[in-house]
Amino acid sequence: MSRDHPVTGRQVRLSALAYGGDYNPDQWPPETWHEDMQLMRAAGVNMVTLPVFGWSLIEPRPGVFDFGWLDSILDLLWDNGIAVDLATATATPPAWMVREHPEIMPVDADGVRLEFGSRQGFCPSSPVWRAAVAEMTTTMAQRYGQHPALAMWHASNEYGNHVARCYCDQSAVAFRAWLTQRYETVERLNEAWGTTVWGQRYGSWDEIAPPRRAPGPTNPAQRLDFERFSSDALVDLFRVEVDILRSVTPDIAVTTNFMSLFRELDYWRFAELEDLVTADVYPDPSDPDSYPLTGLNYSLMRSLKGGQPWLLLEQAPSAVSWRSVNVPKSPLQMRLMSLQAIAHGSDGAMCFQWRQARFGPERFHSAMLGHRGENSRTYREAVAFGAELTRLEPVRGCRVNARVAMVVDWESWWASSAPDSLPSVELRWLDQAQLWYQALDQLGLSVDVVRSGGPFAGPFGRYDIVVVPGTYLLTRADAARWEDYVADGGHLVVGPFSGVVDEFEHVHTGGAPGPLRRLLGVEVDEQWPVPPGNEVNLNEEFGSARVWSEWIEVAADTDIVATYSSGELAGRAAITRRGGGGRVDRPVDGQADGSRDGLLDGSPEVSREGSAWYLSADLDVAGLRHLFGAVARCAGVAVSPPPAGVEVVTRSDGDHDFTFVLNHGADPVVVPVSTAATDLLTGATVTDQIRLDRYGVAVLAHPRLDRESSASSYVTGAALVVDGGIE
Ligand code: GLA
Repeated sequence: MSRDHPVTGRQVRLSALAYGGDYNPDQWPPETWHEDMQLMRAAGVNMVTLPVFGWSLIEPRPGVFDFGWLDSILDLLWDNGIAVDLATATATPPAWMVREHPEIMPVDADGVRLEFGSRQGFCPSSPVWRAAVAEMTTTMAQRYGQHPALAMWHASNEYGNHVARCYCDQSAVAFRAWLTQRYETVERLNEAWGTTVWGQRYGSWDEIAPPRRAPGPTNPAQRLDFERFSSDALVDLFRVEVDILRSVTPDIAVTTNFMSLFRELDYWRFAELEDLVTADVYPDPSDPDSYPLTGLNYSLMRSLKGGQPWLLLEQAPSAVSWRSVNVPKSPLQMRLMSLQAIAHGSDGAMCFQWRQARFGPERFHSAMLGHRGENSRTYREAVAFGAELTRLEPVRGCRVNARVAMVVDWESWWASSAPDSLPSVELRWLDQAQLWYQALDQLGLSVDVVRSGGPFAGPFGRYDIVVVPGTYLLTRADAARWEDYVADGGHLVVGPFSGVVDEFEHVHTGGAPGPLRRLLGVEVDEQWPVPPGNEVNLNEEFGSARVWSEWIEVAADTDIVATYSSGELAGRAAITRRGGGGRVDRPVDGQADGSRDGLLDGSPEVSREGSAWYLSADLDVAGLRHLFGAVARCAGVAVSPPPAGVEVVTRSDGDHDFTFVLNHGADPVVVPVSTAATDLLTGATVTDQIRLDRYGVAVLAHPRLDRESSASSYVTGAALVVDGGIE
């Protein structure tokens, strides 16, 4: 964390893996603060986040400031060697401001203005709110910009949490301005939105509104533009703070905390503005299958700034308080989940929150220091983990080197997850992305995340395999980049319902996958969603589809890898491959339809090196694993599946690999390894295998393996799940 930002040179002023939590001293009397300091030091806490929701105490009346408590607490923290991730305190407007300017509160799609009484209620497009945020940010930056405890700036809090879309009149004004920039004339907007359908034609800008509740389904293009606009509105609000912080403290890093794979905000756009990616991740500890989705979230965080280390800024030490049933973390689960984040590139592990609240909505949310104080289990575990963390210093700043990348594009996610007017609402992009990631993870492959355009979009050429779990919206420009990738020898796997519409939500005529038709060698004649409760089988070991299938036509130069073996599409192609240096190693069967003539005329030769795969159905994890195994073989990527429930991720510097072996399972396991190593956590030398107890982790330091042998194959052969007393 202490390293300068590689591009901007801005610093996170902390020379260790970050450890600590959100700190709310304003909820406690000053006597408690001294106890906090002593207990934080004992736990190895080196950074806290505050004052996230402090505005109403800092400015109790308009223009009247009380910084006394904040000055004291910052000094006290610094005297105790604890740095501060300093929030700008703009996450919640004070009550007086809402009463003076009720128009700063957001309005929902039904036209209801939300009341004061919770948090994070504001309209991002409100000029009054933006001006107030600018003033508060300036005040905080000027007052604390030189404070030695300031490690980095924390703008607002979880943008979009609770309310990510505001439909008020001010938002309507801002939406129109945004549309004017995009389309210049109402005529062009009419064309882009296809307003000839259902009599929607607009005669002037002021007739246009956000997609508020209407009698029936609203215009998909209008909805998509509103998603884009709403995400941009919050990016612009973030920019207000970033610009001020940069001008007052040009050397200090700025962040805002992300909420994992959060549908509502395009985090690629946010990450462009900040120096360090930080994330709040709250997997359900009672769900044994949550860790692959967590892994995907962490991979995204690492990838948002091209592999640069990021920071897990919030996780629960045990239970949260916002699910309907809030199950605590079992002993060692907080440690396991923290180490999972560090494995995936986080330079530390922070929590929400330091001391458990006595009142308010989060009084049952766990904290590092529970209601029983230093006797609480969470505190004992926090102390133990704080001590262990110091042993992982060699890992700080190291990067994960993945050979596989997954494409994540928010615009396509927005468009494909509309509430209606789709062939099926059951094909959910996030579900598919999670399953695809899980299958790759089970093969022992680390996965980076890339976008199809813009900064950090690639070059894809860094990766042997690029997978696209689905990209409903696809532009010709992005498709051209993927064509180049395959022509240069890359291996591309594209999932169902891809290349269906362009950036205006206009269907690509000629059939999906639209601009990828030539590359993939397929045309979708009809989407064929599976009726609820049914399933459709595929041949070989690809299992079955439960929500989605497609009638596809296959070009003459394209191999059929698998066919449907039941249902209306039985005998028709389900999975295809074009290119890849030879035919697939099984006979092409079920080419039931002779209507391939005239398809894909004039297709160029695909490089014999690269390959382009199309999957027209949703598969379960086993089916996907089978598919990705075949792709990896074709791409020459060695796979080394760890035992069930075990995750393997490697961070590297120039000379060393640090291989994290994490047992997410409930049973102990023995994992064979290929090279002698030292476990950083225990100091023990590991020669040919390592035993991990339930939730056990090893961080194995060994000389760097070359790329071809792949860090993932450090864990070798069949591993053994053991019960109780092994050996
Ligand atoms: C979010 C918020 C925190 C807290 C936690 C509780 O991450 O940023 O203020 O409410 O949730 O899980």
